[in-house]
Amino acid sequence: MKIPGKMQLIQLSATGDADNLRIASGPTPRPRSGEVLIRVAAAGINRPDLLQRRGLYPQPPGASETLGLEIAGTVVKAAAGVQSPRVGEQVCALLAGGGYAEYATAPATQCLPIPARLSMLEASALPEAFFTVWSNLFMPGNLGADESILIHGGSSGIGTTAIAIAHAFGARVIVTAGSDEKCQACLRLGANHAINYRTQDFVQQVRSLQDGKGVDVVLDIIGGSYFARNLELLNMRGRIIQIGLQQGSEVMLPLLTLMQKRASVTGSTLRPRSIGEKAVIAQQLRQQVWPLIESGKIRPPLIDKVFPLAEAAQAHAWMERGAHIGKIVLQVAH
Ligand SMILES: NC(=O)c1ccc[n+]([C@@H]2O[C@H](COP(=O)([O-])OP(=O)(O)OC[C@H]3O[C@@H](n4cnc5c(N)ncnc54)[C@H](OP(=O)(O)O)[C@@H]3O)[C@@H](O)[C@H]2O)c1
Repeated sequence: MKIPGKMQLIQLSATGDADNLRIASGPTPRPRSGEVLIRVAAAGINRPDLLQRRGLYPQPPGASETLGLEIAGTVVKAAAGVQSPRVGEQVCALLAGGGYAEYATAPATQCLPIPARLSMLEASALPEAFFTVWSNLFMPGNLGADESILIHGGSSGIGTTAIAIAHAFGARVIVTAGSDEKCQACLRLGANHAINYRTQDFVQQVRSLQDGKGVDVVLDIIGGSYFARNLELLNMRGRIIQIGLQQGSEVMLPLLTLMQKRASVTGSTLRPRSIGEKAVIAQQLRQQVWPLIESGKIRPPLIDKVFPLAEAAQAHAWMERGAHIGKIVLQVAH
């Protein structure tokens, strides 16, 4: 297949509002050592893209300036020595950037097969949330099948994925979400309980749902005032896993409570992790999670809305509006 020298991509004219995202033409990237070139069928949108657009989350050194952390598509070229995936294979891939485009490069080790029965659109919505959730819940978090977890923002891209994975691995799942409709969606995805945090106090609700106890793990994307309440809710040897800071990063940590509960506070960001670390996460997903997607135990990701590539600005505005449930995706090729 002939690979054109130029391609369509989404350019950010200046950091700021969604309107600064425009369709443009630019050079088709070339795969570097260990990479493949993928003709993009669809690209997932993630909240970190919005932060990058506003200038609050710059791309790591060497990453594409173009936004986009996840795609699905067809491998059209592989660097010398890359054995897998091969040219012609359909994959989804985690990127450090460059997904909002007709072609993107990815380290071969960050490509995973499209799970059977999933469309390219669905598969493009897997990598960022699945790499993030798996590497936090199961690598440091070590969530057990007999444990309980509180997931904040249950209807987000991250939240819907966390519900699906935690439920499939047998944990008791409680979520918070911002409307009754979002709560219902979380219950349909497998959450045991959903708390509308706008109308109910989540600390009180969790306590009453857990017969006075708290939870073993909290997956938090909020931070700020949620931290103290999360800590208050932790059971003995509980873990707070911080992966987002929508309410801010400065918090007070009462060390005595930490000691008395023998609790741990951890967290991570996915994007700056090394290619080696991401390869380990990819391998674990392939072995332990992809079979569950293929068997139907983990349902395909919930896609809220699909926009054509040229409407990336509208897609960002849609996410900023905050009414979505699940993932927002850009359709790049038909
Ligand atoms: N650390 C990492 O490696 C990593 C990787 C990817 C994403 N993230 C983070 O994960 C978060 C979700 O990302 P996403 O792409 O899934 O975005 P998203 O779909 O836009 O999710 C944002 C969610 O936050 C919820 N929310 C806002 N305030 C809340 C509150 N006070 N209590 C409970 N929920 C609240 C929103 O819904 P409602 O307000 O309606 O409940 C919405 O569901 C973001 O903070 C992002 O930066 C971290």
